[in-house]
Amino acid sequence: MSAAKTDFNDRLLSLGLARVAEQAALASASLVGRGDEKAADQAAVNAMREQLNLLDIAGVVVIGEGERDEAPMLYIGEEVGTGNGPGVDIALDPLEGTTLTAKDMPNALTVIAMGPRGSMLHAPDVYMDKLAVGPGLPEGVVNLDMSPRERVEALATAKGCKAADITVCILERPRHEAMIAEVRETGAAIRLITDGDVAGVMHCAESEVTGIDMYMGQGGAPEGVLAAAALKCMGGQIFGRLLFRNDDERGRAAKAGITDLDRVYARDEMVTADVIFAATGVTGGSLLPRIKREPGWVETTTLLMRSKTGSVRRMSYRTPTWPHDNT
Ligand code: FBP
Repeated sequence: MSAAKTDFNDRLLSLGLARVAEQAALASASLVGRGDEKAADQAAVNAMREQLNLLDIAGVVVIGEGERDEAPMLYIGEEVGTGNGPGVDIALDPLEGTTLTAKDMPNALTVIAMGPRGSMLHAPDVYMDKLAVGPGLPEGVVNLDMSPRERVEALATAKGCKAADITVCILERPRHEAMIAEVRETGAAIRLITDGDVAGVMHCAESEVTGIDMYMGQGGAPEGVLAAAALKCMGGQIFGRLLFRNDDERGRAAKAGITDLDRVYARDEMVTADVIFAATGVTGGSLLPRIKREPGWVETTTLLMRSKTGSVRRMSYRTPTWPHDNT
């Protein structure tokens, strides 16, 4: 029996989602390394929105550029798509790593995930304490209540190696100094990143390629949900606890319908149904190559994944840069 037009047909929608991520990356291509975060972000936002609106979906942005009064486009609650199709939740970050893009440093990505309506945590724009490991490990092998030392030791035991064989990825921030010092004391290595913790978490799912076994630390909550969507497709565990610094941030949680402020969310509590996920490399790194530009042509590589099947595609796309109809 064929699927009704209003069913979330992840297989059919996935290629459209890849185009959305691709076009956002292409739009930011000429802004890589130009020192202008805002322009790069705006170009990606415009392109992502334009492409999303071509898809036959009744989409709602649940993780977006910010609250309606802060973000003119792709704000939380914005309806996207033609409206002729399934109701879907969309989590997006048109340019994850605006500074990385402006400085031409590794691992800037365009990122988007889509699932049936109600499938993704409406995380407010606050920080989240995150902890992630890759697939093939016992559920709960590490958790947020463990100290950094305990996490490294538990992971090493589960992997049958020494603490010194573990590499942890952490955002380089003053707030992480004590965590970094404690991880160093175990003998583990640390891959410090200056930005881009969606990629940081995703690196855990391909540790044989990236060399990263575990991600930990505080970063954006919206990025936490995007990372959970990625790991739901690639395999792996992520745990997140929202962090609130003031009443304004607690108010944001209330607005998003969150009542238990101390709750730890596991991956499948942040993303409760099967989703599709697409990311295109902007500056490149160990997950995805950078955008390649040559006279008259531009080329991108997109990671396209479906959690239902666990399929992971890496698709390269080459297109002329001369003006042409791209609808
Ligand atoms: P932008 O792309 O919005 O610049 O965010 C990048 C990022 O590094 C995220 O990956 C991360 O979750 C967050 O910023 C960390 O926030 P902060 O810079 O405040 O520590």
